[in-house]
Amino acid sequence: MLRIAIVGATGAVGRECLALLDGGIVPVEKVVPVGSARSRGRDLRAELGLSLPVAEVVTLDELDPDGLDVAIFSAGAEISAREAERLAAAGVLVVDNSSAFRMRPDVPLVVPQVNPGLLDTRPGTNIVANPNCSTIQLVRVLSPLHRLAGLEDVVVATYQAASGGGVHGLRELTRQSETILEDPKAQGAPGGRFGQPLAFNLVPEIGLQDDTGLTHEERKLVREPRKILGLPGLRLRATAVRVPVFDCHSEAVHVRLREPVTPAALEKALAATDGLRVYPRSQSPSYPMPRTVFATAEDRALVHVGRIRVEPEDDRAAALWVVADNLWVGAVLNALQIVELATGNGWLG
Ligand SMILES: NC(=O)c1ccc[n+]([C@@H]2O[C@H](COP(=O)([O-])OP(=O)(O)OC[C@H]3O[C@@H](n4cnc5c(N)ncnc54)[C@H](OP(=O)(O)O)[C@@H]3O)[C@@H](O)[C@H]2O)c1
Repeated sequence: MLRIAIVGATGAVGRECLALLDGGIVPVEKVVPVGSARSRGRDLRAELGLSLPVAEVVTLDELDPDGLDVAIFSAGAEISAREAERLAAAGVLVVDNSSAFRMRPDVPLVVPQVNPGLLDTRPGTNIVANPNCSTIQLVRVLSPLHRLAGLEDVVVATYQAASGGGVHGLRELTRQSETILEDPKAQGAPGGRFGQPLAFNLVPEIGLQDDTGLTHEERKLVREPRKILGLPGLRLRATAVRVPVFDCHSEAVHVRLREPVTPAALEKALAATDGLRVYPRSQSPSYPMPRTVFATAEDRALVHVGRIRVEPEDDRAAALWVVADNLWVGAVLNALQIVELATGNGWLG
């Protein structure tokens, strides 16, 4: 039985984490929810109708590492960078959802379906990093393709939902949509969670651009898969776009492989992979969509792959359409599966 702190428990990721813990995904003795001073004293057990033993929300200053086994950080990179090492040094296993530690060589960056071996033993830092949400669904699909035919080159365009911008992002999209439905000429102003008005719009900039014009989100999509797949030389190019969809990120993925493939071989390899749902060409529709993926708990827990095809003039070039729930697959489930793996390997709890 684990004693777990959820840092950022009142946020989009934190709430889903509480809901999944309530469903019994890992055995829990107690949960300590942590938020900012604004949320201090909130009773999330009552607010969210949970049956778990959840204390009132405390601040990070009040969080006592004694009596904790795990802390799941989902409160942004600044807070992780400032606070996670204090808890890790006190013996708490930190699973961090932010970008603060992902590229540090002494911190394993883990997707349990792809590189579970990194958790055979407890990391010396006591920190395990959860990859970026759009990276997780990408590598869950790239990994079986690499095993099948060897990856040479990857081009990905993402279509990322508003829930990736947290509870404020979801509220912003709702408010803007209502305003435009009332007044179709309303333009809105730059700023807010997405930099630009998102409702009925597309925003091809997630995070700040660097000197080369690559955004922060695109940098994560290029760097993180190389570390997770153990392919430091893999060529990856990304364009990340925020779309006016509430939940679930979608990705158009184009790969060039070392060996020739057929659509049937791709479908077979993907269908044989744990946690993937394949939409074959023989099925209608032959593709997943965010609204349908978000509709059931079973589908929210899977990575969905369709539009699987091989270029007629190049049998080493393939394309796919990938959809997954960024809050579950892209954050909470990955984090809790890391905790499960650590427990199963006997070094936690
Ligand atoms: N949303 C996604 O799809 C997704 C996916 C993967 C990873 N992530 C990562 O997960 C983290 C959280 O994302 P989110 O979408 O859940 O954001 P969010 O909805 O904005 O939630 C942020 C959380 O952080 C808490 N927080 C803010 N300042 C704090 C402080 N000083 N001390 C303690 N807690 C504080 C907030 O508490 P208050 O309510 O008290 O302000 C809230 O619980 C980010 O690092 C994000 O990059 C998000």
